[in-house]
Amino acid sequence: MALLFAVLLGLSACVLGYLNYYFNRDHYIQGPVTIADTEIKYLIMSDISGNLIRDLEKLSRENSRIYFLRGADSQYLAGNIFSLPQKISVLTEGVILFDVEKRNIAAKVHIFDDGRTLIAGVDITREASAYKKLQWLSLITIALMSVVVIISFLISTFVVNRTNSIAATAKSIMETGDLSQRISIDARWDDIGNMAYVLNSLLGRIEDLMTGIRHVSDNIAHDLRTPLTRLLNQLEIMRQKLPEQEGQYLLNICDAAIEETHRLLRTFNALLRITSIETRQQRFSFQDLNLDTIILDVVELYEPLADEKSISLNYYGENIVLAGDRDLLFQAFANILSNAIEYTQSGGKINLRLKAQEGSAHFLISDNGPGIKESDRDKVFDRFYRSDSSRGGKGNGLGLSLVRAIVNLHEGKIILGDANPGLTFEIIF
Ligand SMILES: Nc1ncnc2c1ncn2[C@@H]1O[C@H](COP(=O)(O)OP(=O)(O)OP(=O)(O)O)[C@@H](O)[C@H]1O
Ligand SMILES: [Mg+2]
Repeated sequence: MALLFAVLLGLSACVLGYLNYYFNRDHYIQGPVTIADTEIKYLIMSDISGNLIRDLEKLSRENSRIYFLRGADSQYLAGNIFSLPQKISVLTEGVILFDVEKRNIAAKVHIFDDGRTLIAGVDITREASAYKKLQWLSLITIALMSVVVIISFLISTFVVNRTNSIAATAKSIMETGDLSQRISIDARWDDIGNMAYVLNSLLGRIEDLMTGIRHVSDNIAHDLRTPLTRLLNQLEIMRQKLPEQEGQYLLNICDAAIEETHRLLRTFNALLRITSIETRQQRFSFQDLNLDTIILDVVELYEPLADEKSISLNYYGENIVLAGDRDLLFQAFANILSNAIEYTQSGGKINLRLKAQEGSAHFLISDNGPGIKESDRDKVFDRFYRSDSSRGGKGNGLGLSLVRAIVNLHEGKIILGDANPGLTFEIIF
């Protein structure tokens, strides 16, 4: 954009300079040339009436113009110069420019049918010097405009770079959901710097609010974990102590209550785990890992579950080494694969691929289940979000939130797509 702006400005400067140069040349020379033209016409008439030589001599005496008539053999016949100077330039057809005794002359030329040449010239010294000044002026204008073009190019590059930096940060926040990012412009002396500063403050405020909201749910999860664990223990004791004769009915209720409490505890633990990864509360020990082996282990773990639903699992991978946390990556791949198995109908098909491409590791899993509507693709990473069709199932909508937190921690990127039918889930590390 900066380049386009500079090119447009440069072009308009050149057109302006050229028009200035062009129109003024005509303007300055036009007058004297018209006079010379009138003289020539008059002298042609004199020639017809046979008075050319006499009129030429008379005019030469009376005014300071230049007259010259020579024969077909280039011999001087009449006029106040005896030959043409050697340096002559042609202005337009029939009009020539030359100097006589330090005067600049513009002359009209007429060649008679018998080969004689007649020249009538007018002094244009004043016009020529004015025109020279104007030429200089035009050159100075073009030079100044060029400086303006260069400066505006630099300014617009500066502005465009800054707006690009703002856009890049906004895009990255949108893609990763990481509100801790800031626009990397620290100076406030210009308008864009000031705007970046205000936007950074705004991001800070939003981040504080979001953290506040998260803290509330985290605190609830944290504070309820202990009483829930106690409740679970008491339920388990109660179940053991229940005499068999009380009947299966009470035992079943007890089992259901225990299962429900387990579920609640799992949810709270997952919630706290996500926050701990997102806010990097824990120190994660990154080491070089072979992604291929991790995924193979995940596939092996889930094969029985897929078999149960007669879903075929297909994995093809390359050896790719990545610095990361093994347990977290295992958990992420497991969550994605368990989703694919869960949401794909019996008899379905799931393909998993791991390949190196342009210096990145690409993990791609596609199923032929119902897929995720485009409008839902961002939302599925929110905590507790489950699309309408999955509500009522046994999940709690935290699986993909954990996946996103883990992928962000490994500086990866997630892309959801359509497998027509089904979902494609791609992670690029
Ligand atoms: N492979 C898939 N095909 C279709 N929908 C999917 C797929 N994976 C995820 N989804 C949708 O995204 C939602 C969120 O998934 P997520 O894993 O976060 O939660 P969940 O599976 O419902 O619960 P859990 O916390 O137990 O994983 C799901 O409820 C489901 O609607
Ligand atoms: Mg899930």
